[in-house]
Amino acid sequence: MSVQYDLDGQKRAYAKWAPIYDKVYIKLLADGQRKAAQAAAACGRDILEVGVGTGLVLRYYPADARVVGVDLSVHMLAKAREKVRDLGLGQVKCLAAMDACNLGLPDASFDAVTVPFVITLVPDPEGALDEMRRVLRPGGEIVVASKMGAEGGLPMKVETAVAPLVAKMGWSSDFKVSRLRAWADRAGDMKVIDVQPVFPAGFFKIVRIRKAG
Ligand SMILES: C[S@@+](CC[C@H](N)C(=O)[O-])C[C@H]1O[C@@H](n2cnc3c(N)ncnc32)[C@H](O)[C@@H]1O
Repeated sequence: MSVQYDLDGQKRAYAKWAPIYDKVYIKLLADGQRKAAQAAAACGRDILEVGVGTGLVLRYYPADARVVGVDLSVHMLAKAREKVRDLGLGQVKCLAAMDACNLGLPDASFDAVTVPFVITLVPDPEGALDEMRRVLRPGGEIVVASKMGAEGGLPMKVETAVAPLVAKMGWSSDFKVSRLRAWADRAGDMKVIDVQPVFPAGFFKIVRIRKAG
């Protein structure tokens, strides 16, 4: 299966999700989205959101931020554009169709890159992280929010037990923070500096990865 095939599958899936996404996810993801936006804004004003979707996170960036949002799905982006217009989100400077693994953006142009609830959907997460690192300024951060599986102990046993039920809801525990740490170690100038459990009960996590200054 080629990567191109996977991307087309994602586009088809999110064309169907676009009209109903906000109703399903607005409450469940809000805590992680708000905290991810706050962590990014603490790094500076120039923020890239990869996988911006219907734009649920955009309202959480401060009014003086300069936000660029990209997404594979033109249908999700159309919903984000509606939100920018309806809510008057002047901090959003540009929304564009783009693949996370092939960002048409200049090197070292953002203080932070947010990736809320996206990384586990990308066929080549390390390729996407390489691109985010490229567009990030020294001292900046990649802020990943996602379902990430427990690495061991009782939490992992509980996750394994409930995995079939959780899988029916479309969530998996396969992606772990250790994968982000391994990527950061290989990159050399990136470091996981914080892992924060968020609502509901740590089911989702926010991981901050800083680029050496
Ligand atoms: C679960 S939604 C998250 C949307 C938004 N970040 C949020 O928190 O509500 C995942 C989004 O990632 C996008 N996506 C999936 N694969 C992508 C890729 N390779 N490049 C860019 N966006 C991608 C989808 O089109 C979808 O809009």
